[in-house]
Amino acid sequence: MKPIDEDPLAREQHCARRSFLAWLAGSPLLALSPMACRSLPSSKPASLDELINLLQFEGAAEQVMSQGAFDFLAGASDDEHTLRANREAFQLWQIRARRLVNVAEIDMRLELFGEDLASPILLAPMGDQGNWHRDGELASVRAAAQSGHRAIVSTLSTYSIEEIAAASTEPLWFQLYPTADRGITAELIQRAEDSGCGVLALTVDTPVTGNRERQVVALDRILGAVKTTGNFAGRNPFPFPLDPSMTWDMVDWLRRSTGMRILLKGIVTREDALLARERGVDGIIVSNHGGRQEESGRSTIECLPEVVAAVAGTMPVLIDGGFRRGTDVFKALALGAKAVCIGRPYGFGLACYGEAGVRRVIELLDQELKLIMQLAGTPSLAAISESYLQEA
Ligand SMILES: Cc1cc2nc3c(=O)[nH]c(=O)nc-3n(C[C@H](O)[C@H](O)[C@H](O)COP(=O)(O)O)c2cc1C
Repeated sequence: MKPIDEDPLAREQHCARRSFLAWLAGSPLLALSPMACRSLPSSKPASLDELINLLQFEGAAEQVMSQGAFDFLAGASDDEHTLRANREAFQLWQIRARRLVNVAEIDMRLELFGEDLASPILLAPMGDQGNWHRDGELASVRAAAQSGHRAIVSTLSTYSIEEIAAASTEPLWFQLYPTADRGITAELIQRAEDSGCGVLALTVDTPVTGNRERQVVALDRILGAVKTTGNFAGRNPFPFPLDPSMTWDMVDWLRRSTGMRILLKGIVTREDALLARERGVDGIIVSNHGGRQEESGRSTIECLPEVVAAVAGTMPVLIDGGFRRGTDVFKALALGAKAVCIGRPYGFGLACYGEAGVRRVIELLDQELKLIMQLAGTPSLAAISESYLQEA
């Protein structure tokens, strides 16, 4: 498939399709159909068994979380167009299912950075989890480890990286927000490495915090109740001293400072993918921070093909942003992603049901991925390719 942005006609058709889909998404026609919108009991929180897909966890969480905590987790930047784009854009691709393939056994396992993963679904780093459930990150990493999944632990976790690593029976990955003080950053990296993390994801989309209006209001409401970050010995995490002066030299500095594999989280263009390749990073996570940074209007799934093309197989490309269905994951894998990370859904699961909620979110998405692999005729991850998709 030729990249859309290299073909003016394709680009025009693509834009027309997007406008139509954007219109459709706001149309009452859509509101009538999907099971995703099946209403949940309004008088009491749903029981875990009542939730049959990831989309329903948001409604369940809204019932049990304080308004402030819910808005902090669910919200995004500006008018939240990018947040919505992350979901809507999955409809830009359709699945071409093949028939008469033996799909009695489905193999979703993969090896990534020398680690064996049960499926290509990981938990994205999210700070602050102790404010949604008292067990916070301890519960999410336990849930992930139980089924052989990887969790990426945030710099801004409520528990310390040492406490979280002690709770997990699987190795963890660590997400880094550097501070301008390289001494503090070096110490943090060392602690992550000593805690058994083999992979470090440097977040590169956050030189400053995006204009998260729901979060600002939410923080005003909940600040008194916010727990401190575990990694910074009792200091209140807000505002975190980000490093807006960070440039590509940071990758070289990290390389000198740690033996961990280095991923860049937040790459969304071919230009930056090429620079990442030149710098010899070990992998990329295509991400727009769940629509919480620049209000670009670009979904991550639309950014994926140009990043995959630029790295040309030299490193694994992962992606996050809006993944709620097995078919979403399938489409990303077909477009060249090695794995997919999920954020908010497991946060909602954690808030409602603790560890069991996170476990259920992972299990549901795994089940849906397995189902679409069976229905599309792809018994292994290696079998999934671009030929299983067509543009809508
Ligand atoms: C409440 C919240 C906290 C987050 N905290 C972090 C973080 O500490 N570090 C980071 O790199 N990304 C963070 N993210 C972004 C996620 O890692 C991920 O990119 C995004 O949530 C994926 O989109 P999704 O929520 O639609 O699945 C956060 C996202 C949310 C919603």
